[in-house]
Amino acid sequence: MSEKLFHVPVLKDEILALLFFDEVRTVFDGTLGLGGHAEAILSQFPQITQYVACDLDSQHLEFSKKRLEKWDEKITFQHTNFSHIREILEQLQIDRPLAILLDLGICSNHVDDPAKGFSFEKDGPLSMAFDDSREGAAAKFLNAGREGHISEILKTYGDEPRAKFFARKIVQAREEKQFETTKDLRELIEKNAPPHQRKKTLMRIFQALRIVVNDELTVLQETLQSAFEILESGDRIGVISYHSLEDRIVKQCFSTVSRPTTEETDLSLHTVVAEPTFRLLTRKPIAPGQSELLRNPRSRSARFRVLEKI
Ligand SMILES: C[S@@+](CC[C@H](N)C(=O)[O-])C[C@H]1O[C@@H](n2cnc3c(N)ncnc32)[C@H](O)[C@@H]1O
Repeated sequence: MSEKLFHVPVLKDEILALLFFDEVRTVFDGTLGLGGHAEAILSQFPQITQYVACDLDSQHLEFSKKRLEKWDEKITFQHTNFSHIREILEQLQIDRPLAILLDLGICSNHVDDPAKGFSFEKDGPLSMAFDDSREGAAAKFLNAGREGHISEILKTYGDEPRAKFFARKIVQAREEKQFETTKDLRELIEKNAPPHQRKKTLMRIFQALRIVVNDELTVLQETLQSAFEILESGDRIGVISYHSLEDRIVKQCFSTVSRPTTEETDLSLHTVVAEPTFRLLTRKPIAPGQSELLRNPRSRSARFRVLEKI
């Protein structure tokens, strides 16, 4: 089973060039996935002494353990949320510089495997949780959530223009039959969206559910704050995001810490009261080039940003 899992690591060359340099000794890879980035990083930088690798998906950890067997002594595998970065790193002896990598979201096999319940194109349990022990998580949310809350989630996380309408339909449908599978939700959306808007509506509603089920935006925001406190001079953090809500958080958080702090004086002038503590290494986000897009169309929405502690 596990030999069949597949995911092409995104923006690999850009990560190796911008986030890494010869002196890096410790890596915190919050999203190990199928170990594609890990393999490239460990191959190219043999001087790395410690590779801390997290994932919520136990199948991915199992697969990567085998794939990365030859670096076993350097790797600490953690079946946990990357938001626990502080507790994890505090328990270990960290050689500096440290590089933190977050390659957010899902792997290709999450989309391809019906059992994960991420895709409206496959019929499977309506789960969508990265943590594979939380079976049916998205169904539970739809079956138990208040109509107003469901509507708010569809609007905020899916940008769904008819959020109220779909929340109503969801609540009406669950009174007849509880949601169990991706097909249950897909059929409800297809029945209620005009044909030319079906695919977009499916994408918006499935995205909104994935974000709420995994609390993705709060987890990202809190993890970035923790990372800023952990990083020391010369350490770096790089994040690949895949949708605008994530990228906005990364952009804002990176921009805040890499700008001087100013205060307004009596004359409405702004005086610098503290110099920035980080340097932005990517003025603009890095996106996949033409050849990567041809090789891996799924990389198209990726945006990579890197920050270094001064
Ligand atoms: C895009 S994939 C990473 C792919 C990986 N870089 C590679 O080269 O194979 C994202 C991975 O992060 C995991 N993940 C997502 N959010 C997580 C979180 N908050 N904590 C831990 N793992 C998470 C997912 O289960 C998935 O395996």
